[in-house]
Amino acid sequence: MRRFGLIPAAGSGARFGSPHPKQYSLLAGVPILRRSIEALAAGVELEAIFVVLAPGDSLYARHVGALPGVLPLFCGGGTRAQSVANGLAAMSERAQTDDWVLVHDAARPCVDAASLRRLVQTLQDDDVGGLLALPVDDSLKRAAPDPPLRVACSERREGLWRAQTPQMFRYGVLRRALESAVAAAPGDEAAAVEALGLTVRLVLGSPRNIKITHADDLALAEHLWAQVAELT
Ligand code: CTP
Ligand code: MG
Repeated sequence: MRRFGLIPAAGSGARFGSPHPKQYSLLAGVPILRRSIEALAAGVELEAIFVVLAPGDSLYARHVGALPGVLPLFCGGGTRAQSVANGLAAMSERAQTDDWVLVHDAARPCVDAASLRRLVQTLQDDDVGGLLALPVDDSLKRAAPDPPLRVACSERREGLWRAQTPQMFRYGVLRRALESAVAAAPGDEAAAVEALGLTVRLVLGSPRNIKITHADDLALAEHLWAQVAELT
C-alpha cells in the first residue's frame, strides 16, 4: 500500500489579507507552503507529494522551486474541494484505488511528526480513513442573529472535535466522495466522505497544528513551528 501527499495551495488567502496568497508569506524566513511540504515529508514516508496550485501561479517556481519528490499541479479550482478533486484526477496515473492520500493544508506548517505517525498507524488497516482532530475544550455559545453579538443559547461541547489536516483517505474512496460532493463545496475531505455514508475515524492531533488564517496567526505559528522543529 502506497501513500501520497496532496497539498491544496490554490487559495487566495482573502482573510489573511496580504497582496500575495498567504502560502507565500514567510514563516521563519521560508514560505509557509514550503514549510508545510517539509513538515509533511519529515513525518511520514510518501511516494510523492502533489501540490495543487492556481493555474498561472508564478510564485511557486520563484519562492518554493524544485524539491525532490514534490510535483506541482497547476489545476486548482474555485473551492478547496474543487482543488482537491482536480488534484486527485491529475494524479490518477500514479495512484491506485487502495493507496492512501494525505490531504494537508498549505497553511498548516506546524504539523508534528508524532501526530503524522499516529494518523498513519491508527488508520493503516482501515478501509476508509480519517483525520487529525482535537476535542473542543471551550464552552460553546450560539450567537443570536439579532441583535448581533448576543448569546442565543449555550451548546454542549461533549463529543465535538475540531478538524485539522492531514485528512487521510483511500484514493478511490476520496475520488468518489469528492465527485459526488464537490458542487456542495464541503469544508473538508471528511465531510465529503461522510456524505457517502462511510465511517470516518478521528485521530488525536496536536494543538500546535494550527491553520494560518488571519495575519495575526503568523506570529503564533512561528512560535509553534520553532517548538515543533526542536522536537523533530
Ligand atoms: N485552497 C485551495 N483552493 C481553493 C481554496 C483554498 O487549494 N480554491 C487551499 C488553500 O490554499 C489552503 C487550504 O485550501 O491551503 C485551506 O484553505 P484556507 O485556509 O481557507 O485558505 P484560503 O482559501 O486561501 O483563505 P481564505 O478562505 O481566507 O481566502
Ligand atoms: Mg478558504
